[in-house]
Amino acid sequence: MSQENEFPTFPTDCKSMLCKHLTKEVFEALKDRATSNGFTLKDAINSGVENIDSGIGVYAGDEESYFTFSKLFDPIIEDYHGFSANDNHKSNLDPDDLDAPNPDPEGKYIVSTRIRVGRNVANSPLGPAITKEQRNQIEEDVSEALNGLEGKLSGTYYPLSGMSEEVSAQLIADHFLFKAGDRFLEAAGLNRDWPEGRGIYHNDEKTFLVWVNEEDQLRIISMQMGGDIKEVFTRLATAISEIEKKVKYSYSPHIGYITSCPTNLGTAMRASVHIALPKLATDMDAFKAITDKHHLQIRGIHGEHSESEGGVYDISNRRRLGVTEVECVQDMYDGVVALIAKEKSL
Ligand code: ADP
Ligand code: ARG
Repeated sequence: MSQENEFPTFPTDCKSMLCKHLTKEVFEALKDRATSNGFTLKDAINSGVENIDSGIGVYAGDEESYFTFSKLFDPIIEDYHGFSANDNHKSNLDPDDLDAPNPDPEGKYIVSTRIRVGRNVANSPLGPAITKEQRNQIEEDVSEALNGLEGKLSGTYYPLSGMSEEVSAQLIADHFLFKAGDRFLEAAGLNRDWPEGRGIYHNDEKTFLVWVNEEDQLRIISMQMGGDIKEVFTRLATAISEIEKKVKYSYSPHIGYITSCPTNLGTAMRASVHIALPKLATDMDAFKAITDKHHLQIRGIHGEHSESEGGVYDISNRRRLGVTEVECVQDMYDGVVALIAKEKSL
């Protein structure tokens, strides 16, 4: 790629939201702008320019990026979430408002349930624009806050630096820890100084976990085997508010919790199940008709950009902005009920 600040060219079959919404006109209007952290349009689009198979292709370096580069971010946000620049975000983390009795009490289909939210620290640049010193400071502050948690949330913070290959490989295989070397994050500047400043906190049972300084500064995670979605949500809601007593989250009344990727704005919530649907998997059109109807995304079981294994899929809510947390989980729940009903009928 040329080092010049030139309009990037994409192959004609490129499907990313970046190549769809970065018109020549938008590029010209934004190409010389920078946020107060020095984050430029070139930085924001680099991941999608280097990875032409991106679905989205852009990252923000700070909250300001969403305003400075709104001519590019707004249409992408509207395209992904169906949320327009005139809308306002809303929040509801009250488990009592969730109607989600276990859809699979016999455990025939749902292997495990996981709900995570992304959070970043107020008044700090996001990962793509952060300095090494700022990132290390966040690790120090966040790990100290986490180490003060009590009861079922009490656990230990494990920095990635110094963790043995064996331990990290096992944590990744067991779906607890993020992988190293993601090429989308790499091109976004999110892997700088790896592994310094990164780590994972978890309780003994590994039902409550926090990733520190991965794609977002905090990924707060609640997970367990089986399909008790309400229990998972309740634990997460408690953890979010306990951590908030010590860490101020970056939040905008307009676009909700600020995250480095625009797909995570709003609730920053992804509620998923690992679910065995071997019969439905033989008819992907029927499968997708149900997931589209309920605004769901299909992933493989080793995380984003991975493949399914043995007919087991990761099914999660797709929308996160302009809907509440309860609605995100309700999307997932309603879709999972429909998927199980279809699988049973086959
Ligand atoms: P994110 O959830 O942060 O968007 P990924 O899709 O990469 O990121 O998933 C992160 C990890 O969480 C992966 O190891 C994935 O297998 C695991 N995971 C996601 N959903 C579930 C689930 N319902 N049960 C168990 N593990 C899960
Ligand atoms: N940048 C990647 C892409 O455009 C991932 C986008 C959504 N996922 C995420 N983890 N933020 O395909």
